[in-house]
Amino acid sequence: MNHAALTAGFARGVRIAGTGSAVPDGILTNDDLARMVDTSDEWIQQRTGIKERRICDKPREGTLTLSRLAVQRALEDAGLDGSSLDLVIVASVTGEMACPSLACRIAGEIGATPAGAFDVVAACSGFVYAMNLADSLIRVGRANRIAIVGCDCMSSIIDYDDRSVSILFGDAAGSAILEADDDPTKGSIYQTMEADGSGWQALYIPRRENEIAPGDEENPIRLGCLRMNGREVYKFAVTRFQRAIKDGLEKSGLAPDEVGAYICHQSNARIIESAVEKLGLPSEKVFVNIDKFGNSSAGSVGLCLDQMRKSGRIDESKPTMLVAFGGGMTWASSVWRH
Ligand code: COA
Repeated sequence: MNHAALTAGFARGVRIAGTGSAVPDGILTNDDLARMVDTSDEWIQQRTGIKERRICDKPREGTLTLSRLAVQRALEDAGLDGSSLDLVIVASVTGEMACPSLACRIAGEIGATPAGAFDVVAACSGFVYAMNLADSLIRVGRANRIAIVGCDCMSSIIDYDDRSVSILFGDAAGSAILEADDDPTKGSIYQTMEADGSGWQALYIPRRENEIAPGDEENPIRLGCLRMNGREVYKFAVTRFQRAIKDGLEKSGLAPDEVGAYICHQSNARIIESAVEKLGLPSEKVFVNIDKFGNSSAGSVGLCLDQMRKSGRIDESKPTMLVAFGGGMTWASSVWRH
């Protein structure tokens, strides 16, 4: 693998200066859900690998509070102050208000003024989209230090009478502080950000009657809540996820065991297991925390990154592969050299 060839044309690289994450204390177990809808702990564990998920205590907690906590912890980890940031990017589909953006409110609260601030909407791919964007902006010299946050309070858009979605999702936030490094071969040496909007109706949040997808009219859908065609999403995810990992390995000239850690969006343990099996990934390098946190959408990859870093599970002598997919439909990857 030639890292220099992959990053040729860039005068500088990017490093992770710190990471942080936040989850609510409230736990919703499979048995709790089985008391609410017709499901069981056994069914949920078998089909998804999930045992429990974290749920915000509303209105005390939500996307804003979790995001702020995660970025504050990332700054603390980096030994930095909010005022040293040039930009704050937040990825979420559960922001409290359309305007102002979550990023503006968080930047204001952590003293990152007049840093730029904007939100990214790429559902579960949001953290990787934000990371790729931040990496590019730093590489070309438009910014020196950027805070990225992926956060979703999925419990705010789940209809807990709908067992097709209530079993999967939880609330979490993950953050990273990215900053310029003199070595251009550090940071994202290969990345993708892709989408296929023709399949949007497999996973969406209609706010008005006229936004309900054709064919979905008979569904007892609650406006403002997440609607998912689980089987369609599963088919899409298994294929795209494996393709994204294979593509990342091929384009950066890496064999599966030359990657130090795989940080995968936690959507369903079976989807991750299938990639491990089909692509021959070393399973000990593929982090899984879905049993404890469920699918926290844009929060998931950042939460994994922070938990892995803090527990010494990232071998920084080798590149890390980050990969996610989600509503849109979107998918994104990054091969990150430390
Ligand atoms: N508890 C018990 N039974 C359930 C259930 C639940 N929560 N949800 C569905 N079922 C039933 C169905 O009604 C169906 O019954 P039937 O065979 O009598 O019709 C049966 O279980 C199988 O349903 P199906 O939807 O085919 O299950 P599945 O194996 O596809 O698993 C998901 C459902 C949601 C776990 C799975 O499709 C999935 O993980 N999809 C991807 C979701 C995802 O990743 N979303 C986020 C993307 S970022």
